[in-house]
Amino acid sequence: MSTELNLVLLGPPGSGKGTQGERLQADLELPYWATGDILRAAVREGTELGRAAKEYMDRGDLVPDEVIVGMIGQRIDSDEAADGFILDGFPRTAPQAEALATKLTELGRELTVVLLIDVVDDEVVRRLGGRRTCVEGGHVFHVDFNPPGQDGVCDIDGSELVIRDDDKPEVIRHRLEQYHAKTAPLIEHYDTHSLLRRIDGAESPDAVADEIRRTLATLRLEADEAI
Ligand code: AP5
Repeated sequence: MSTELNLVLLGPPGSGKGTQGERLQADLELPYWATGDILRAAVREGTELGRAAKEYMDRGDLVPDEVIVGMIGQRIDSDEAADGFILDGFPRTAPQAEALATKLTELGRELTVVLLIDVVDDEVVRRLGGRRTCVEGGHVFHVDFNPPGQDGVCDIDGSELVIRDDDKPEVIRHRLEQYHAKTAPLIEHYDTHSLLRRIDGAESPDAVADEIRRTLATLRLEADEAI
């Protein structure tokens, strides 16, 4: 593995990508881009992107590929990404995976690893049903599994914690259908390219973070041995 670390977090809604992404960002000091967070910020700010995305997001549908691909391509192409990046929620369809590969090839780079955080659908429903998200920074909590110190207040930046519009039970089910139909095929794709590492997302957040650290350490060792 070169010193550059180009990492993708893959997994169903509510598998813990955001929870682990925040920890990885702190551990690795790399830019962390979560497409859902970027889109929600655009909706809050009322930008053209936000207006285009909102109706898809509220229904639990995927936002069209061309909107998302441009948004992420610009970031990967920036100086900020010189040492690598952490992507959460992208790619989520075959065309997005293709666009990412093309962009990286253009830049003379490649993906280092795709971490699949795996959890079953019933667990997704339980987690998203109790999720609370901070309006300011998108920090995530859970009423039972990861409660904030004070009800309704973010421990990290003190802003209000709310239930996301797409965390209603019927929308959660639809998001899961979209995941199985459009995103899950990427698992085989990345496995075929020997990029996929499976992480058991059913464990506690700390145990999942430990498994991710061990996985990345093993990858580094394998890469060092290959030199
Ligand atoms: P996005 O925001 O990316 O939603 P998602 O993938 O559905 O993922 P979530 O944010 O719901 O969950 P997560 O895996 O981050 O879990 P979290 O850490 O919060 O996308 C939203 C929408 O934007 C999409 O539906 C689509 O419309 C659009 N969009 C985004 N990207 C797109 C793209 N590339 N293409 C097209 N459209 C796109 O954890 C969930 C809960 O569980 C929390 O309460 C947390 O505290 C708790 N928890 C976490 N880990 C654990 C654990 N180990 N044990 C117990 N509880 C845990």
